[in-house]
Amino acid sequence: MAKKITVIGPGTMGTGIAQAFITAGFEVVLIGRSEESLQRGMAIIKARMDKAAAKGKLSQQEISSAMGNLKLSANYDDGRGSYAVIETVSEMAETKMEVFKLAEEHIHSEILATNTSSIPISKLSEAVKDRSRFIGLHFFNPVPVMKPVEVILGKDTSKATAEAALRLIEECGKVPIEVIDYPGFVANSVLMPMLNEAIILLEKGVSTKEGIDTIIKLGLNHPMGPLELADYIGLDVCKDIMDSIYNETHDMKFKPAEMLIQLVSAGKLGRKTGEGFYLYKQER
Ligand code: 3HC
Repeated sequence: MAKKITVIGPGTMGTGIAQAFITAGFEVVLIGRSEESLQRGMAIIKARMDKAAAKGKLSQQEISSAMGNLKLSANYDDGRGSYAVIETVSEMAETKMEVFKLAEEHIHSEILATNTSSIPISKLSEAVKDRSRFIGLHFFNPVPVMKPVEVILGKDTSKATAEAALRLIEECGKVPIEVIDYPGFVANSVLMPMLNEAIILLEKGVSTKEGIDTIIKLGLNHPMGPLELADYIGLDVCKDIMDSIYNETHDMKFKPAEMLIQLVSAGKLGRKTGEGFYLYKQER
């Protein structure tokens, strides 16, 4: 029988993770707070699959089988019997901890995983009674395309949970990499100072936004320039990650650049709002 997974939070990461698991043959319960957000999440997954079908990468049969593996729910009890819970709600410790209290009480899974980008795993694990089952699984955006997953061990994560999580990630076709509970783990520890530095260079007028992005794209062979990537991730998300790492480390390289703070307070959050460093046609 296919393994059952519960994904909590039908946003960008949650829908991407759900898509990766249903495509790999897992049964997925996607939990959200409102019917509207769940329907939107499902429409995003279906649209991505239809795009893949239009390119001849998926058949209609594969799409209907994958979509048949997806169940939407606003009720944690529907997740009961899940092998793993993967939480992808907003990057606020209190919100995530509330979710884990409910997940542990209602779902009883072998693995309790958070997709946090920067909050310490050991801190979030304080929300649950059995911390040995708690682990970080940090996926990358866009999840259906990006292969690596950081598997972050909290101070109480058991060896059995770590091994089960590594196996689970492999079973969904991704590449798990074990890391310790270090501020920003590996990816954001490297990425956030780079994005911040690009913004500081823009503030200082060292080059234009297009200039900075083109140099990094072509000169360092990155798929996107840093400003374009920050818009893609979401400027609010970048700022939240930097704040979280800065609060833990007090390392100036994580202190959000003034221009980032201003764009976020003006509601210019990147692609999702139609404007960040660049202007975008409004996307769904
Ligand atoms: N969802 C699913 N699939 C998508 C997608 C999405 N949102 N966006 C693009 N794709 C797929 C396309 O369908 C296409 O698939 P195919 O090759 O099988 O046909 C493939 O990705 C390439 O897409 P495109 O040809 O449309 O566009 P590009 O070649 O420009 O690639 C990109 C788009 C994959 C987003 C590429 O620009 C890229 O890799 N950018 C960098 C992304 C990155 O760095 N992500 C990490 C962010 S950091 C993070 O997530 C951590 C967090 O904590 C902040």
